[in-house]
Amino acid sequence: MSIQIREIDNYFPVKTELIPLNIKLPCDIFIQENDEIKVFLKKGEYFSIEAKSTIKNKKIENLLVKNSDRKIFQNFILEFKPKDYFNNILDRYVINNEFFYKIERECLSPEIPITFTLYLNDGNNLNLLLEASEENPKKISQESISEGDILISKKDLNLYEKYLQQLIKDTKSDPIILKETTKLLLREIYSDPTNKKNLLIVGDKIDEIIEYGKVEPQALKRLLIMKKLDNYSYVHAFNVMTLCLALGLKIKLSENELRLLGLASILHDIGKTNISPIILSKIGKLTEKEFEVYKTHVIESVKIAEDLGLHKEVIDGIAHHHEKLNGTGYPFKLKGEQISFIGKIISICDAYEMLTTPKPMKYPLSPYNALMILVNDKKCYDKSLLETFIKMLGRII
Ligand SMILES: [Fe+2]
Repeated sequence: MSIQIREIDNYFPVKTELIPLNIKLPCDIFIQENDEIKVFLKKGEYFSIEAKSTIKNKKIENLLVKNSDRKIFQNFILEFKPKDYFNNILDRYVINNEFFYKIERECLSPEIPITFTLYLNDGNNLNLLLEASEENPKKISQESISEGDILISKKDLNLYEKYLQQLIKDTKSDPIILKETTKLLLREIYSDPTNKKNLLIVGDKIDEIIEYGKVEPQALKRLLIMKKLDNYSYVHAFNVMTLCLALGLKIKLSENELRLLGLASILHDIGKTNISPIILSKIGKLTEKEFEVYKTHVIESVKIAEDLGLHKEVIDGIAHHHEKLNGTGYPFKLKGEQISFIGKIISICDAYEMLTTPKPMKYPLSPYNALMILVNDKKCYDKSLLETFIKMLGRII
């Protein structure tokens, strides 16, 4: 019997190397074999050396855990880290996404004590950078930190949020702090898209970003600095929104149009929260069947936007973000003027952001090469918007 692809949506993949040996499992673990998902170990059983070699012999790389057990399982792994956890990271992408959160180096102030532990990813290893807690806060200066990405455990996110609030109180407002606080907010929106409260706050953030862009266009450049681990979907959403607002300001949209564009661009991929992480984080090309599922994220995004009661122009912008002027896009294969104006803007910014963002096993393109691809595909995009976009990037990147 062939597996229902939607069934996979209920599970998330876990690398076998991450599962501690001989410790009682907090939930059932599954495997996918011959197109079927089966229980491999039950809650309370142990992941033994024998179990590990069975998996190896079956050439299975990922075990599956039910999405409903995700939190329990993450805490379990964090509590019983495998012995050489920090020095033998076999799948940096999965680990970083599941357990760590990358923070902006520029947000670390030497004046404000840090209440959470910092890790440094120097490209090869993940090292402990500063061990701190609420009971034992410590200060750190940026200069003392060597090259690499600074990460925190996801369980410390609320402490980081408090730290940023303190930073806003103590220092003058800064685009990088705005980016960090917006990222945290987007993370929440992407984990609970139906929460309308967050959406109101994000509206205020969009206004703040528009203000920055108006007062000092160079401020948007700082928001667009992309680093190699910024590959969460909400960071993509943030970057697409920043590009869209920069383009919107360039073509002199009204305040209201900018706000609609900001909302549509920040939520354009929100439906990905309903797509299996196995498909979203797959390394390599999707099969035809998987791509069909992937494409449904547009309709899923529209449904969420409709449930939130958003403006029609926002919903159309979201619905059309993968449409192409020559009718080769999806899901509706619309052509030319059938595509909404906001949809046309997002489609350019989204394509550019995708090309310049690193993916597992795939290097990002330089801004120049990404723009060359858009120019080669010019039949897909609105000519005047694409021209303005290229001129704009020429100035800010
Ligand atoms: Fe998309």
